[in-house]
Amino acid sequence: MKSSVEALRSQLISILADGEFHSGQELGLQLAVSRATISNHIKALGTLGLDVHRVTGKGYKLAAPLNLLCKHNLQRLLVDTPFLDIEILNVTDSTNAYVKTKMPELSSGYVCLAEAQTAGKGRHGRPWVSPYGASLYMSMYWHFAGGYAALGGLSLAVGVIVAETLQQFDIENVQLKWPNDIYIHNKKLAGVLIEVEGHMEAGCDCILGIGLNMALPPATAGIDQPWIDLASASSEVIDRNVFSAALIAHLHTGLKCFETAGLSPFIDTWRALDLYAEKPVKLILGKREIQGIGKGIDSNGAIKVLTDSGLEVFHGGEISVRSN
Ligand code: BTN
Repeated sequence: MKSSVEALRSQLISILADGEFHSGQELGLQLAVSRATISNHIKALGTLGLDVHRVTGKGYKLAAPLNLLCKHNLQRLLVDTPFLDIEILNVTDSTNAYVKTKMPELSSGYVCLAEAQTAGKGRHGRPWVSPYGASLYMSMYWHFAGGYAALGGLSLAVGVIVAETLQQFDIENVQLKWPNDIYIHNKKLAGVLIEVEGHMEAGCDCILGIGLNMALPPATAGIDQPWIDLASASSEVIDRNVFSAALIAHLHTGLKCFETAGLSPFIDTWRALDLYAEKPVKLILGKREIQGIGKGIDSNGAIKVLTDSGLEVFHGGEISVRSN
């Protein structure tokens, strides 16, 4: 259940989301609290990555309007997706962590989205910077009946599903960096973190976490690599609810396809979008570094690199790939 502080901050953000000025008095009246209380909550919004300006005589205003998530809109946009269970969180530590706590009561296809994460997780134990309302923070639960063996190439398939959703919105120059980072013009747009809890024979529970930059404030701190967002990659304004609904629908269809056919229906698209095809790459495997030329993926989704010793193939796990 939302704490009263969180509920009040959420209401405050909903009023400010229009990007217009709102006086402390007006906000206090609407939320039935004092102006001093409003002022304290406004200060706290900075910790969620929100940039609130205060101008004497005018009041408070967000640096840019926010396009907030709306469960009703999402459900309306997803009427054709069967058995849909969607949850929208305001602020959470990590949507992946949230799904993990709820897993015993979930059915395949459940999805949760958050407006902000305070401890968003990236691959290789890195943080995922998650300012309020600026991106898509989504985790889907999926149960695979087949055990670990049925998951080979899943992360690549999810990358393809995200890329195809972007293409549906006419986003150009989408590329995939092995295994599933989404890049545009050599800058990262989105990442996927898959967490698996499984049993060798009795099926696997997967949490598919996707972070996709929608309209990150230009001064967003803490991202240690070049990034891009959908707002700058698209000539049209893309609504967060519309894009989220399209991604959820694509995931449902794509994961069902993966369940029955594995990676093979996704391979050609992955290869066509390969960021490092025929380019110099460096693979980092713990303390080991391997240099060579990217030669795409094999039928299991393993990355192929032409090194001084010949063609080598590397499977998933703790491998990072960089341009060289
Ligand atoms: C990466 O490092 O590229 C993967 C980033 C995955 C981030 C998403 S945001 C939603 C979900 N919740 C998390 O804590 N992480 C994933």
